[in-house]
Order: sequence, then structure tokens, then C-alpha cells
Amino acid sequence: DAGHYDNGGYEHYLLKEISEQPDTVARTLRGRLDDRFHIAHLGGLNMDARETRSFRRVKIIGCGSAYYSGQMGAQLIEELARIPADAEPASEFRYRSPVVEPDTLYVAISQSGETYDTLAAVQELKRKGGRVLGIVNTVGSAIARETDGGIYLHAGPEVSVASTKAFISTAVAFALLALHLGRVRDLSPADGRRICEGLRRLPEQIKEILTLEDRIRELAKKYADSPGMMFVGRVRGYPVAREGAQKLKEISYVHAEAYPASELKHGPLALISPELPTVAIVPDDELLDKNLTTLGEIRARHGRILMVGHRTSEAADDCIVVPKNEVELDPILLTIPLQLFAYHAAVALDRDVDRPRNLAKSVTVE
Ligand code: AGP
Repeated sequence: DAGHYDNGGYEHYLLKEISEQPDTVARTLRGRLDDRFHIAHLGGLNMDARETRSFRRVKIIGCGSAYYSGQMGAQLIEELARIPADAEPASEFRYRSPVVEPDTLYVAISQSGETYDTLAAVQELKRKGGRVLGIVNTVGSAIARETDGGIYLHAGPEVSVASTKAFISTAVAFALLALHLGRVRDLSPADGRRICEGLRRLPEQIKEILTLEDRIRELAKKYADSPGMMFVGRVRGYPVAREGAQKLKEISYVHAEAYPASELKHGPLALISPELPTVAIVPDDELLDKNLTTLGEIRARHGRILMVGHRTSEAADDCIVVPKNEVELDPILLTIPLQLFAYHAAVALDRDVDRPRNLAKSVTVE
């Protein structure tokens, strides 16, 4: 209940929660990075080294934004720990009689720890002997209690219906988990160090991104009156695009669709017109050139483009440039401007930012 927490002088809880992310990320990291061995300390997992090495697959479940953060997490685990990993909506997972395997590590994500579909999926997994960890914000919540161990986010209460700080802290928790799994497998000390140092840079870099707020407000005003928006990204950028679209539709009610940029020409390119602007997630990574080519294709159909990345480009109408971290961690930072964009779009459209219509903060019924 919003009434119990101080809004810290911010006009909306959502802006407060976006703004406190330098601190909440620092809290998720606190005491968990080991600079001597370049490993993560995650005592709450309740797993010894032998068990940690034994998993051959990771399956992540959650609903809504928790699912998108899980998709970001799957990518981190595959890249850093080289274990096949994927995410699925918990609400679907539990209805398709999933094959539960002893060498799969299951991870349930939930800010509230009370989402019914996620809880029911955890219970089903446990019934079938699955090893389930939780990445949860609310201490002592149902999902925290039902899982065999896990990682608490320590992000503090999230009041606004749209998840922001919990999403980002979940991605950070996944980076810790990926580092942990990676360092008992193939991840080298040098790469472990690179990730530890990258994680430590995040709070300062988030602060830097927050200073872009005035510019993002202007961009949100410019684009918010469109009937819809397309969000595109590839590989690491795709979960960023999905979360960006989710935030926009949830609080501004502007229709938004997320697609892998590579899939545009297989259908949705037909939608591109000046009335459907695109937010393109374009990190400086090995897909940069391919992404810029896609922007050219959108431009050729008279689509307007707002690019979010690490440089400006003439292929876009507008650019938001964020600080660069390690490629594996960049998606975390690229998400922050999209939160501000959705927030200011919702304000510009005079929406009920913290309590969007038709939605509940935690969905405790089926
Ligand atoms: C996020 O902005 C949404 N409000 C929603 O998708 C949410 O992430 C989802 O309902 C899961 O909630 P949980 O993390 O509390 O389980």
C-alpha cells in the first residue's frame, strides 16, 4: 500500500524508484563481490561447489517484467557460465506439463514473491523433484519460502505498479549468479575480474544516465502522441526492447510492440510509417553494423527512430547515449532511459502513473 511509504518528495513513486537505482543496485551488490578471487558470494543459494558444477541447464520462470528480466538473466548465464539457459513465462510453464530434470537449475523471479502463477509453477517443480532457486525482493514472501534458496534483491519496497528498480536489481542478481556459476566452471579469473569491476561501476553510471532526464522528458513529449511505437533490439538488446515496450504500454497506454530487429523484415516492417516510430536498442557490440543497417531499412520506410546506445548516429532522428560498461552488462544500463521515457510519456499524457488502469501490483490470483 503506497500510503505506508514516503514518496521522498517526488511527484510519483515511479520517479522515486527510478531515481533510487544507484543505491538499490549498490544494495544488491553489497557484500557479494570478492575482489581477490573475482567471484560472487551468494550464501543464500545453499549449494556446495559440487552441486554448483553439476547443472547442465538453467530454466528461468517469472511473469511480465520478471520474465523479461529472466530473459536478460538467461543471456548472462549463457555468456558467462556457458550453460544453456532460457526463460519462459511462469504462467505458461506450469500448464504445459514441463519435463523436470535433475540436472536443470530452475530459477523463479518475483519482486513481490506472491505472484500466483509463479508460486504455482514453483510448487509444481518441487512436487516433481526440481531444484528451484528464487530471485525475490520481498523477504519472507511465499516464493522465498517455497524455494530451496536464492538471492534477495534488497531493493526496498517497490510501490509503483510498474516495476523498475526490482527489474534492474534482478538483472544485477543474475549477473552475480552467472559470475558465481561461471567461476566454478570455465570463466577465467581475468573475465571474472572484468565482470566484478563492471558491476562495481554500475551505480555511478546509472547516476550519469539519470542526469539525462530533461532530454528524455523532451523526447517522451515528442514521441508520446504517436498511436503506437515499435521497440527493437537484437540478442542482448532484445530483452531491453521488450521491457521498454512493456513499461510504455503499462503506464502510458501507448501501444508498443517489441521485436528482434532481425525479424522486422519477416513481417512487422509492413507496419513502419511516420505514425509508428521505433525505439532502437543499439549497443556498441558485434551487432552494431547490422543494427545500423536495420535503422536504414526503417528510415527508407519513413519510420522515425529514437536510438538508445553508446554513440549517436545519423541513421536515427534522435539518440540517447548511455555510458558503456562490459558488453554483457550493458543491457542493464540501456534499460534505464526507457524507464524514464515511459514515465515522462505517461506524465505528458496525464496518466495515473503509479496506479495504471486494469493492473494490480502483484497478481495473487490466477
Ligand atoms: C511490471 O512492470 C509489471 N507490473 C508486471 O509485469 C510484474 O513484473 C509481474 O506481475 C510480476 O510481478 P512479481 O515480480 O511481483 O512476481
